[in-house]
Amino acid sequence: MFTDKIERKDFAKMPKAYQDLLIRVLIIQTDSELGGPDLYLDTWLRNAPTLEDQVLLAKTAYEEIDHHRRFARILNGLGVETESITRRRRGDRMLETFRNPLESWAEMGAFGCLIDRVGQYHLEDFGECSYLPVARIIPRILKEEQMHIAHGERILRDLCKTPKGKAQAQAAVNKMYPRGLDMFGRSDSKRSEEFRQWGIKARTNPESRQAYKDAVDPVIAGLGLELPDPLEGRKYL
Ligand SMILES: [Fe+2]
Ligand SMILES: [Fe+2]
Repeated sequence: MFTDKIERKDFAKMPKAYQDLLIRVLIIQTDSELGGPDLYLDTWLRNAPTLEDQVLLAKTAYEEIDHHRRFARILNGLGVETESITRRRRGDRMLETFRNPLESWAEMGAFGCLIDRVGQYHLEDFGECSYLPVARIIPRILKEEQMHIAHGERILRDLCKTPKGKAQAQAAVNKMYPRGLDMFGRSDSKRSEEFRQWGIKARTNPESRQAYKDAVDPVIAGLGLELPDPLEGRKYL
């Protein structure tokens, strides 16, 4: 297990395996930060039901673009070009979750409540990252993610006040729940073990997925919704 902490000046001295793993995970994170804005800026920003929702969504989009910029700067510092990731659009995002449109306001809520929450777990895993420029940007980003998650949960809670809204919320949760669980990748991933050995991420895929599930299941139950089958519609177990 690697326990040293690395600064930018030390990166070139690190083994190629470490360099490749770090760059790989940063590229995915940099790409994923724009996943949300690409899904709701054109569709939901001005169609959100209340002005408060519109303002919150605009703030969330601003923060995600800022998160993208922060991770992109780290990659640029390692000599990796990120312009092509910034220019990329929805259909080309690396994670499948971000390629599917949000077809209802309920799906917007479930996206915040379930998918932004996956982001929280990925970011938490970077909290003690052996590459210090990453570890340093995490606390603020995590704080902002909490608000995105809270907004999504509030959207669902409001919908659940009427039978029609509750049915929409249930359908949206059913759709997003397997996607959220899948976003942690394969449980038998060799790379996930390597990320941990190099101190890049704190937990392996199955550990993170379980922590997420333990947190999100009571939230779904608390909304008065049924828990979807955790195996149905899954692509990665
Ligand atoms: Fe973010
Ligand atoms: Fe977010």
